[in-house]
Amino acid sequence: MIKINKKINSFNKIITTEGDKSISIRWALLASQAEGKSIARNILKSEDILNALKCLKKLGVKIKLLKNKCEIQGLGINGYKYKNGTVLDAGNSGTLARLIIGLLVHSKKKIKLVGDKSLSKRDFIRVIQPLKKFGANFDSNNGKLPIIIKGTSKPKSIFYEEKKGSAQCKSAVMFASLNTEGNTIIKAKKSRNHTELFFKNLKLPIKIEKKKNFDIITLSKTKKIPPLNYNIPSDISSSAFFMVLTALTKNSKLIIKNVNINSSRTGVIKILKLMGIKVKYKNIKIYKGEKIANIQIESAKYIKPINCSPKLNSSAIDEFLVIFLLAAKANGISYFKNLSELNQKESPRLKWGSKILNYIGIKNITTNDSIKIFGNPKIKLNKKIIIKNYLEDHRVFMTSVIAALVFGGNWCIHDKHSIKTSFPSFLRIVNELRK
Ligand code: S3P
Repeated sequence: MIKINKKINSFNKIITTEGDKSISIRWALLASQAEGKSIARNILKSEDILNALKCLKKLGVKIKLLKNKCEIQGLGINGYKYKNGTVLDAGNSGTLARLIIGLLVHSKKKIKLVGDKSLSKRDFIRVIQPLKKFGANFDSNNGKLPIIIKGTSKPKSIFYEEKKGSAQCKSAVMFASLNTEGNTIIKAKKSRNHTELFFKNLKLPIKIEKKKNFDIITLSKTKKIPPLNYNIPSDISSSAFFMVLTALTKNSKLIIKNVNINSSRTGVIKILKLMGIKVKYKNIKIYKGEKIANIQIESAKYIKPINCSPKLNSSAIDEFLVIFLLAAKANGISYFKNLSELNQKESPRLKWGSKILNYIGIKNITTNDSIKIFGNPKIKLNKKIIIKNYLEDHRVFMTSVIAALVFGGNWCIHDKHSIKTSFPSFLRIVNELRK
């Protein structure tokens, strides 16, 4: 638990957040099937990644996690070595669970996949359905974990239409295609494209046709994956908490170094700009197809309300909770719609957005897939607020801390350990800015 009863003072600082979670997990999974030793620097050392490494070790992969690098000795495509009935625990990570199933479509022996109480409530039909078409068998708890996977030795290539804008579903099918004869074709609604960039960078057989609202991805069988050395950039989703903190703290300025600004992830930046907040990129560079920059952000005197286009939903999906705090302080009504996917995350986050706004006295009208937020630029709190979230969602915790630091009041926020999932140094950085 953490207690906060004082607003943060103005700051002018430079910070570095932590390695990108999506890229860290993809690197580890691909490295495990590469030929030879792969090395990653700045890999995120959070529980989601540690669970990925533990799962891979159970599949016979040799891994060394050192202070400044992670080394994985890949076993080649379909080279995992494990006993029948091996149990893999994905902990809290939907990305790990859904992506690793893609790699297990070819598993000869039975594997059981389990997760924590939050992950056990999440939907896996979305990956079981397309992956079944490859010929694998899944025995699940009504589409939820635990799932028993029995792969096929003769996977068939498939056509799959991904309609949710889910990078996890798209990536699971892409991983399954690695060892499948023939062409697998995915018609995918736009979503984060780190897997595609990895495939291109590794020169795996991939063809992408970009259309206005979707991509057509054609994949064929891969003979081998070369080792992949990678310097992982910082995560924009972790950085977003500090962007909003700066925007909502008077006379403040922040530079966040070396952040991944891949356009499939920068919905938060577009939303901040539309809400009148000054954000700039400095030192832009391209690294293995990913765009990276230092992000400079300044506090806002005036926050404009937003009628947020659903086109931005997928590229800001993990940032909405903290974006709602900006809307709370905006000068008017903000509206976010077509957001049913937000209730499919580690906890039902649209509901949590509404709950946090209710705690801080901001009127909102929330449905199953939308939220209308009646902003109050003069918002000031002096009451006691206790936040305890049953599913211990890391982003609910971090959003609550940012709310406490900018709106005042007397807060008691439970589930501090949840930050270990994605951003273990979150509170250390908060304290650095509070000095
Ligand atoms: C992720 C994709 C998103 C996102 C999650 C990470 C990924 O989930 O919310 O935190 O790394 O592919 P969906 O694919 O379910 O939208």
